[in-house]
Amino acid sequence: MAEPVLAVEGLTRRFGTFTAVSNLSFEIEPGEIFGFLGPNGAGKSTTIRMLCGVLAPSAGKARALGLDLFTEADRVRARMGYMSQKSSLLTDLTAAENLRFFGGLYGLEGSRLAGEVEYRLKEMQVWEERDLMVSALSTGERQRVALAAATLHRPEILFLDEPTSGVDPLRRRLFWEAMDELVASGMSILVTTHNLGEADQCDRLAFIMAGNLMAYGRPRGLKEAMGRQVVELRTDRFRALQAEARRHPEVLAAELQGRAVRLSLAAGTDPAPLLSRLRAAGLEFEALPPELPSLEDLFVDLVQRSRADV
Ligand SMILES: Nc1ncnc2c1ncn2[C@@H]1O[C@H](COP(=O)(O)OP(=O)(O)OP(=O)(O)O)[C@@H](O)[C@H]1O
Ligand SMILES: [Mg+2]
Repeated sequence: MAEPVLAVEGLTRRFGTFTAVSNLSFEIEPGEIFGFLGPNGAGKSTTIRMLCGVLAPSAGKARALGLDLFTEADRVRARMGYMSQKSSLLTDLTAAENLRFFGGLYGLEGSRLAGEVEYRLKEMQVWEERDLMVSALSTGERQRVALAAATLHRPEILFLDEPTSGVDPLRRRLFWEAMDELVASGMSILVTTHNLGEADQCDRLAFIMAGNLMAYGRPRGLKEAMGRQVVELRTDRFRALQAEARRHPEVLAAELQGRAVRLSLAAGTDPAPLLSRLRAAGLEFEALPPELPSLEDLFVDLVQRSRADV
């Protein structure tokens, strides 16, 4: 297997007595889109900020592109790109002026800079908007200009912190298509998102909570590792059905989703006897075929288990 482009070991960041990131270890393979998930305050941005050199770690090691990320920072950082959670674009400059400004910071100039600015704006489908002030752009356009700015110097590793928050589904898809093209051109991407549909498109995921790594792997592998199947029951009386289902020992979890109850059962058990008992208790519902848990099921399960621990 190729050497990982990024290998993080025991990364930790404390703010006073509070530990925001705790002993985090993970690796990113070349050319993958690596998703970083977790509730608000989990430590995602803090981790990215340490890896981009904006924030010093309290402990831990990281190697990127064959170099030590913390002791050889200058040499590595020139080969990384970063799009922060709060867009760093200058709103009173146009899209093209922003790119020229950031390109200058990366050391690009002259025709090379002009060529790169044009190439990136076209690639991100914001070339038509190049002479508009950033303040006049929509959220989706702004995010794509920010992505163009973060990739001007052709970084090998790209860190994107919630790049699609506030972006509509269509623009979100456009943004992911742009990411797919960047990966096809050889970049590796670490992206944070609260959108589990996006997470499903990642090659691998790390799920962190309260600074700790809770789950790590391919989306399908993570779902299979739960050892569960989910049966969705559609009903008008979802609360009554949820309460009744929770009384049955084979029901590992019964969560509401809209007007449906999602029952988690151990993988491989036949749901039919349980469904008969629920119907015998006077409940009416339509049962969908059993399926693998979704990432949302995994997310809910991890959050609830951590609550049960406290
Ligand atoms: N400079 C700081 N000083 C003190 N505490 C901080 C600082 N920066 C972050 N924190 C705390 O560290 C924790 C992790 O924050 P972080 O921004 O990394 O979370 P996140 O996973 O990115 O959340 P979100 O999904 O809301 O963006 C939070 O409790 C936050 O308040
Ligand atoms: Mg964040």
